[in-house]
Amino acid sequence: MIFVCGSVEDTLELGKRIGNAVRPGTLISLRGSLGAGKTVLTKGIALALGIGESIVSPTFTLVQEYDGRMPLHHLDLYRISGCEEFEMMGGEEMLYADGVTVIEWSEKIGEMLPDSTVFIEITILPDQSRQVEIKGLEI
Ligand SMILES: Nc1ncnc2c1ncn2[C@@H]1O[C@H](COP(=O)(O)OP(=O)(O)OP(=O)(O)O)[C@@H](O)[C@H]1O
Ligand SMILES: [Mg+2]
Repeated sequence: MIFVCGSVEDTLELGKRIGNAVRPGTLISLRGSLGAGKTVLTKGIALALGIGESIVSPTFTLVQEYDGRMPLHHLDLYRISGCEEFEMMGGEEMLYADGVTVIEWSEKIGEMLPDSTVFIEITILPDQSRQVEIKGLEI
């Protein structure tokens, strides 16, 4: 499914729809260039899970955990080199956590992602709106 979000609010709304469709154990791979809107979309997912805390980008901490209707694990792998470093940090078990796991820059560990992974790709269109393609989840 492909959506076009013309504003931050649209992207938050789409994130909420995604957050309402996930199940415990859902793993979401978010792809898209710097500033594409991956963290904005994650904020929408968090809102749907009843998470009131503000979502901060976990670029320096690797993972941020939030308590909502189900736990949300938000990973940002921008700073890791690849699978080996991720495994050394004990990352693999994070892929099979309870609750929902959302991974920014998941292409760094592409080979480790299970077949059941939901793939979401955000593309910045020439008019600055965001195209969001969702594979593996009905919303
Ligand atoms: N339609 C839109 N949807 C989402 N963000 C938008 C949109 N239009 C403009 N923006 C802006 O784009 C930026 C998206 O930032 P965000 O932190 O979500 O990106 P990101 O993909 O997580 O980047 P990074 O790879 O650095 O983590 C924000 O500054 C936001 O205001
Ligand atoms: Mg981000």
